[in-house]
Order: sequence, then C-alpha cells, then structure tokens
Amino acid sequence: MSAPPAQLWRHARLASFQPGTAWGWVEDAALWVEGDTLRWVGPDAALSKALPAGLPAVPERDLQGALVTPGLIDAHTHLVYGGDRAAEFEQRLQGASYEDIARAGGGIRSTVAATRAASDEVLFQLAAGRARTLMAEGVTTLEIKSGYGLNEADEARCLAVARRLGRELPLTVRTTSLAAHAVPPEFAGRPDDYISAAISWLAGQHRAGLVDAVDAFCDTIGFTPAQTERIFQAAQALGLPVKLHGEQLSDQGGAELAARYGALSCDHLEHLSPAGIRAMKAAGTVAMLLPGAYYFLRETKLPPVSALREAGVPIAIATDHNPGSSPCLSLLLMLNMACTLFRLTPEEAWRGVTVNAARALGLADRGMLATGLRADFAVWDAQHPRELAYRFGHNPCRRVVQGGIERQP
Ligand code: NIG
Ligand code: FE
Repeated sequence: MSAPPAQLWRHARLASFQPGTAWGWVEDAALWVEGDTLRWVGPDAALSKALPAGLPAVPERDLQGALVTPGLIDAHTHLVYGGDRAAEFEQRLQGASYEDIARAGGGIRSTVAATRAASDEVLFQLAAGRARTLMAEGVTTLEIKSGYGLNEADEARCLAVARRLGRELPLTVRTTSLAAHAVPPEFAGRPDDYISAAISWLAGQHRAGLVDAVDAFCDTIGFTPAQTERIFQAAQALGLPVKLHGEQLSDQGGAELAARYGALSCDHLEHLSPAGIRAMKAAGTVAMLLPGAYYFLRETKLPPVSALREAGVPIAIATDHNPGSSPCLSLLLMLNMACTLFRLTPEEAWRGVTVNAARALGLADRGMLATGLRADFAVWDAQHPRELAYRFGHNPCRRVVQGGIERQP
C-alpha cells in the first residue's frame, strides 16, 4: 500500500495528553501528518515556522474548533468467541452467582463449547462486528485475548482470527494468549496437567507470530499463583511480556507475582492489597480497571483507586468485552463508569484509555498526540473531553484518522 499523502489538520481544540499540562491542552492546534506519523503537533499560530521553506503545498482541513484526542485504546478485551450468555444473565437474576455458575460447568466453559463449534469465518464475522462497534467510538488500537478455545487448535484459531482483524480492519490489534483462563472439560480435576499442556502450545503460537503477550486468570475459580507462575516462566523463556487477571474475586497475591515478572498490567484488582500496590509501583505495572465487569457482576468491593493514585501507579480503563462478565462494546461508557463508579477524574479516565492503555500494551508510539508518534486520532463534536466522560449513551465521534488514513467512524 502506498503511504498516505501528507495533510495538515488545523484549528483543533486538542487534548494531546502530552505531560506537563492538564490534558496536554492546546486551545487552537495544528497537526501535520506525514505517512502514518505526526510530523509536527503544536499551536496553530506556530505552524508556519514549523513548516520547512519550499515544502510543496499540503492539503489542509479546517476543523473549526472541533475537539481532537488520541485514538482510543481498548487494552483488555476477549473479542473472539461464539455464542452468548444471556441465559446465564437470567440465571444470575434468579439468584445464582457468577462463581456458582462457573463451578457448575457453565460460565467460561459454556462459551468454550460455543467457540469450538463455530467456524473460523463465523468467529471472524462476529468479532469484526464487535470491533466495528468499538471503532465507531474512536478506538484505533485493540487488545484481544484468546481463552475460549482452551485446546491447542482452538486457541490458535482464535488468535489467528484476532490477527486477521488487524489485517483486514483499519485498526491495530495486539493479541494475548490466555490459555490459562479456565480448565477445559478434557482436563477436569487436572489443572496442573492443563497448565503443562498450555505451556507446550505457547512456543508454537509464538513461532507462528500469533502472540504479543501472555495472560493468566489467577483466582479461586481460575488458577493458583503457582500455576500462574509456571505460565509466566514459559512466557519469560520466550521473551513474551505477561499480564494478569488478578484480585478480581479474591486476593491471591497475584499482583506481587505478576510484578516479579515485570507484568505490563494487572487487571480487575478489586481485592488488590497494599503490598500488591507497592509491588506494581516498583515494577512499573499498569493497574487496568474494568468498570464494566464490576458493574455487570454487581461487585461491591471497589478497587483501591485512592491508594493506587497516591502510590503513583498508572491506571488504565478498558471494556473487558466478553460474554460473561462484561458484554459491553462502548469504551466511552467505560469512561463514564470509571468516573461514576470508581471516582476517577475525567482526565484520569481519559489517560486510562490513551497514554496508560498504550503503556499496558507496551506500545511507545501512541496514546498521546506528539511529534514523532503515530497519527491515530479522533475528531469529536464536543468542546472538551470531559464532556465525553460526562454524557453516556452518546457518541459524538465524527472522524477517525488511523495511521494517517481517515476512515468513517
Ligand atoms: O475478564 N475473569 C475472567 N475472565 C473474564 C470473564 C470471562 C467470562 O466470564 O467469560 C473477565 O471478566
Ligand atoms: Fe478479562
């Protein structure tokens, strides 16, 4: 594909999220895009000095004061799966708990059965529809976990579907292997043997270019810290970064364990301890908070937001889109819920879906709008990003530029 032509976007109200000022705010900004990169970003009044003399005329767009933010990053999703869990939702309303259903063989395992039964094409079309819904709200980068295949072939198939989404949609996709999500029926009662099997698949997935990171669900209905550590050791031996589903339903010390492996992020964290916070701070691990799952499971224990803030642990926010605990396809709604449920400030919530989400994926080329970074941005019918955290059920996304190329939201 030939490189997109250079373009100038002028007169934006810009939330760049560059450090130093609130929101990285520039009241009247210009962005000079060349190829997939931001060649220059700054006050519109300084643009003429920034452009080299003799530059051929570059097409200009006047944004007339519309809000521009970085493209949104949904850094925790389980987007590839078959079936749904609406009946389980109904069961929960009749009194069963998420754990009861999981222990009775429903929950994740029912999605595993539906995923295994679906063809590659069906899985792709379902996931593409979900991805497009997220993209309509300005999402330009998406993480997708496996974890509903739970055997060698089906895990690889789900990761390959995620890779195909990244090739066929105007979207960056990062893949995470989450074979350690639940024990599949073939290994019932033999979780250690299942972990050995999952470890044996990893090198092949890695060789096939299917994996960017490795995750595990460490909890009473997931895996023990010892089992999780075996997965982390295998990832480390392959040079793959790790992430963790941890301290969601109980405190297993998963955050300390993940921090010892330099985890990119620990996710959920309602039951995170002070020791976990200290370990994450020391390791530079991002705290990925998932208000959709908290809301949908009607959790009452809040993640320790003030303590994370005081410790200076970077906080990210994601949809955790999955059929069981967060069937949500709106990252804008998560901005609102991060504020209303978790008491993040609108700016903290926004940093959670931009700069800190990029960090949770180990991506240094995005999450902010600054000279030299990727030209991934969204244009909104709004004056200020706080409006997008304030309203809910409302999508004012008007344009999206992904890697320098404009697409319809
Ligand atoms: O992130 N906690 C484990 N995994 C998912 C839920 C998976 C499911 O219920 O299907 C989560 O919440
Ligand atoms: Fe999850």
